[in-house]
Amino acid sequence: MSIDITRISDIAAQAGEMIKARREQLTSREVFHKSSETDIVTVADRESETFLREHLKAAFPDIAFYGEEGSYGDLNSYERVFIVDPIDGTTSYLHGYPFYCISIGLRENGVTTGAVVYLPYLKDIYTAIRGEGAKKNGKPIHVSAVPDFVNAIGATGFGCVRSHVKPDNVDLSAKMIRKLQGFRRSGSAAIDLCHVADGCVDLYWEFYIKPWDYEAGRLIVQEAGGKVTGFDGNPIDEKAGRVFASNGLLHNDMLREFAEYLGGK
Ligand code: IPD
Repeated sequence: MSIDITRISDIAAQAGEMIKARREQLTSREVFHKSSETDIVTVADRESETFLREHLKAAFPDIAFYGEEGSYGDLNSYERVFIVDPIDGTTSYLHGYPFYCISIGLRENGVTTGAVVYLPYLKDIYTAIRGEGAKKNGKPIHVSAVPDFVNAIGATGFGCVRSHVKPDNVDLSAKMIRKLQGFRRSGSAAIDLCHVADGCVDLYWEFYIKPWDYEAGRLIVQEAGGKVTGFDGNPIDEKAGRVFASNGLLHNDMLREFAEYLGGK
C-alpha cells in the first residue's frame, strides 16, 4: 500500500506556514552558529523540527523520524524513517530571500518511497511516490529535454566552502559558468533538485550535502524522469555527500567534467 502523501503534504504545509509567520518575530538572539561562523541555525529551524516530529509521529506512529537539528543515531539502523530538513535554505530564510523549504523524504528498507518539498513563500508543493511519478501542485512534472551545456541552466551550492571541505566547488563552478547558458543559485539543495524535476533547471550538483538535504528531492527528480548519482555515476555515497542530478541527457557530459576536475580525488 502506498504512503498517504496528502497527509504528509498537509503537515509540511502547516510547518511551512508556521515558519513563514515566525520569521517576522525572529530576533538576533534566536540565531546560533553550528560548525562555523557562516553555518547557522535559528530557533525557527528547531521549532519546525519539533512540529514535524510530533505531527508525523501522530499521523504515522510506526515510522521513525530523523531530522537535521536533532540527535537520532544511525540513519541506516531504521527500517522505515522520515528524513527531514525542517528548513532547507536557513541562510535564505534568515535574510528573507524567498527560496527556502520544508523537505520530507520517506525511506523504507533503504529505498526512498515518498517525498514532499514545500516552499512556503511561493506556496509550491512538490511530491513523489516511487513508481507513481512526481507532481508540482498536484500536476505531473517532467525533466527538461535540453541536450547540451550551451542551452542549459545549471544550479549548485557552496555548503562545502562553509564546511571547509576540499576539493571544493569554487573552481568547478567558475569553469561551468563559462560553459552553461545560465547559472542559478537558490540556496536550498532540495529546491534545486525540484527545479531539475520540473525542468526549469537542467542540472544541479553539490559537493557536500546530507540526506536531509537530498532525500526527498532525489526521488522527485527520479520520478520526473531525471537521473541522480554521485560524481562518479554511481549511487550517492552518503558519507561523501556528492550529489549530481540532471535531466539524464546531460549526465555523461557532466560526469566527464567531474572526472577531469577531481582527477580521482
Ligand atoms: C543547506 C542548503 C544549501 C546547501 C548546504 C545545505 P540548510 O541546507 O541545502 O543549498 O548549499 O550545503 O547545508 O543548512 O539550509 O538546511
